[in-house]
Amino acid sequence: MNSLVRRSARQLSLWRSYCVKHGGPEAASPGRPNYEEFIGRHQRQARCSIVVQVSSEKSYPELYNYCSRFGSILGAHHYCVRQDEALHYVLLEFATPDEAAAAIGAGVSNGDLSGVPVRSPFLWFRAAGGGRRSPKLAQANPSPQLLSLDGNRQVEQSHLLGLLRGAADIEEQVQLLHEHTRLNELGVRMRFLAALQVQQAIAGMFPAAQAQPFGSSVNGFGRMGCDLDLILRFDNDMGAKGSREAADPSRLVYHTKENLSNGRSQTQRHMECFGDMLHLFLPGVCHVRRILQARVPIIKYHHEHLDLEVDLSMSNLTGFYMSELLYMFGEMDPRVRPLTFSIRRWAQTCGLTNPSPGRWISNFSLTCLVMFFLQQLRQPILPTIGALAKAAEAGDARVTEDGINCSFARDVERLGFRSRNQSSLSELLLQFFEFYSQFDFHNRAISLNEGRPLSKPDHSAIYIVNPLEQLLNVSKNVSLEECERLRIEVRNAAWVLESEVENASPPESEGQELSWGLLNLFKHPEKAVIRPNMFFKPRMVEVSDLFEQKETTTGSNAPTTT
Ligand code: CTP
Ligand code: MG
Repeated sequence: MNSLVRRSARQLSLWRSYCVKHGGPEAASPGRPNYEEFIGRHQRQARCSIVVQVSSEKSYPELYNYCSRFGSILGAHHYCVRQDEALHYVLLEFATPDEAAAAIGAGVSNGDLSGVPVRSPFLWFRAAGGGRRSPKLAQANPSPQLLSLDGNRQVEQSHLLGLLRGAADIEEQVQLLHEHTRLNELGVRMRFLAALQVQQAIAGMFPAAQAQPFGSSVNGFGRMGCDLDLILRFDNDMGAKGSREAADPSRLVYHTKENLSNGRSQTQRHMECFGDMLHLFLPGVCHVRRILQARVPIIKYHHEHLDLEVDLSMSNLTGFYMSELLYMFGEMDPRVRPLTFSIRRWAQTCGLTNPSPGRWISNFSLTCLVMFFLQQLRQPILPTIGALAKAAEAGDARVTEDGINCSFARDVERLGFRSRNQSSLSELLLQFFEFYSQFDFHNRAISLNEGRPLSKPDHSAIYIVNPLEQLLNVSKNVSLEECERLRIEVRNAAWVLESEVENASPPESEGQELSWGLLNLFKHPEKAVIRPNMFFKPRMVEVSDLFEQKETTTGSNAPTTT
């Protein structure tokens, strides 16, 4: 019997304890926030927060004493940017937005240096005037501990490898990799503060404008150091709020400037203007680049107080709703995110992905491949997007400014989807590589809407139907050569992992260089042996199994590409 079908008692018990610890599919997370709650909670947190540059973390008690006059400080995080000439910052969270606003309002401009005085949540803590120490407030409440000390630092590669080496089995390796490389709480807070800074800067003229983070910063698939995707929205959310107001629309209508006939060039002009504004006035914003000819025009900048790369767009709301879908997928089953992290790490180490965009597969496309794999299993772990769209109710209605329908059930419970799949993470990892070793990229497109492969409508090397704009291909950029490399690498990975999964736990011998399990997937490409097809071991899952009728029905709003 092959190893995928055989389930040892040990694996079953591992699975059960895993479900207890992380919340299994049956225990679909009632108390966890949905996407909008998650976003709302972090937006409020950002409004309650300020970032103060200090000379070192030792300044914290004095900063705490000083800032306590503005309100109660709930927590503080310390971080550094630029390892070489470490600049220290403390992010302080007050109990209310008014308290943070009072602290910001009490700031003064730096008279010695030129520069337009701009209010923002980014401040610095200067030494008390004339060498005096700042008067100590009555220390009724001692300063709370810094919640994280240098909490923005990525885990050292050698430390991570050591952790993986010491794990009990591949399951634990996958978990450890996820826990130690995912974007942490401070990382999320910093990204929401960057968004708030932009929003507050333009609030005078655009009080309804919202700068909303999307992409890996908020969809739960972000790693430490990931970029911030930000969309500046001027619309009044066409969703539930719009439909409520429709019952009694206001008779007072704003006068506005006439739109240019070409919406795209208008967006480009507006973005140029915002790019200048960010560049000239916003503290921390540097290296502003305008990429206005792209399908979705963006402004890129670096935030030097947050050590963060930002991509700001003003159109393409579908990307924002796509992040909500990915967030929901990640919340549905505790295996989804750890599995995706391992696969993304593997792709990074064998050079399939690259931080700069190009003809290679992006992290987002790779994530789509993982979601599709989890949908098409004989016992699916994720529902199709078609099924989610079908279960949408009035409150789920979302339409972008271009009229693209992004309505899908936000409450997954309504779908009644329960996965009976009990595969372990190592089994799923292996199945993923096997599935794509056999996938017919030449003729088939990947549809997350249907959860099954479709006929490919054009000659793109890889075709992933964009779930919300179904006439677009998410992976249009991927060249034939890169697709071929992907096929070779998934084959290699399946080959390596098969023996690792069979062994399941680390070899007995101890040693510094001991490499086993996941570590063998993460070997540098130079070390990886490209194994031709003929040596590829026989598959353990038949292709016919993979494409068989599944236990749950797929949604009905199928893409036109069949
Ligand atoms: N997006 C999309 N369609 C694309 C590309 C991107 O809908 N063809 C959306 C997705 O929601 C994606 C987000 O835009 O998550 C941001 O894209 P990108 O920064 O490329 O990917 P991330 O998911 O943020 O991953 P990374 O950490 O590599 O930035
Ligand atoms: Mg991103």
